[in-house]
Amino acid sequence: MSEVRIRDLTELDIDGITRVDERITGRYRPEVWEQRVVYYIRRDADAPKVAEQDGTVVGFMLGEVRGGEFGLDEPTGWIEFFGVDPGARGSGVGRRLTEALLDHFRSRGARITRTMVATRDREIDAFLRAMGFKPAPLTALEKPL
Ligand SMILES: CC(C)(COP(=O)(O)OP(=O)(O)OC[C@H]1O[C@@H](n2cnc3c(N)ncnc32)[C@H](O)[C@@H]1OP(=O)(O)O)[C@@H](O)C(=O)NCCC(=O)NCCS
Repeated sequence: MSEVRIRDLTELDIDGITRVDERITGRYRPEVWEQRVVYYIRRDADAPKVAEQDGTVVGFMLGEVRGGEFGLDEPTGWIEFFGVDPGARGSGVGRRLTEALLDHFRSRGARITRTMVATRDREIDAFLRAMGFKPAPLTALEKPL
């Protein structure tokens, strides 16, 4: 097995991300990932990242810099979707994807990065804390419709 390389996402990665997501969630959702990939590339083509090994996508991280949401004025790097193939975990791929995306956020003027994690997703929470994330002084609210 050769080295894992982190690079910018392209539209040719839709299949690879769909496959990684299927390995994680058990759901095959090509239309969902096509929509998301096109969205993030259109918003800022240099932001979203993939991890590739031997020509195969083994991880991805999608996000962008926005500002003004939720009364938060400062430009904020938002991490929104990520996943590492179960067979490629535990060797720093998630960390390298995060560092690449955060470097990009900094280059776009963001001084803070935010994300949300479901309370039940303990492993994702632990990963994000290992990446240096801490609970934010924000309250997540919801209402069924
Ligand atoms: C979370 C995830 C991205 C981690 O990927 P990975 O490549 O194994 O992570 P790394 O090897 O880079 O680990 C980085 C750090 O996170 C920690 N970490 C990773 N997974 C962890 C877990 N399940 N529990 C506790 N800590 C964890 C590691 O210990 C490591 O810490 P260290 O660098 O201080 O030693 C991967 O497990 C995954 O894709 N999970 C499913 C994600 C998902 O469901 N996404 C859908 C929602 S968008």
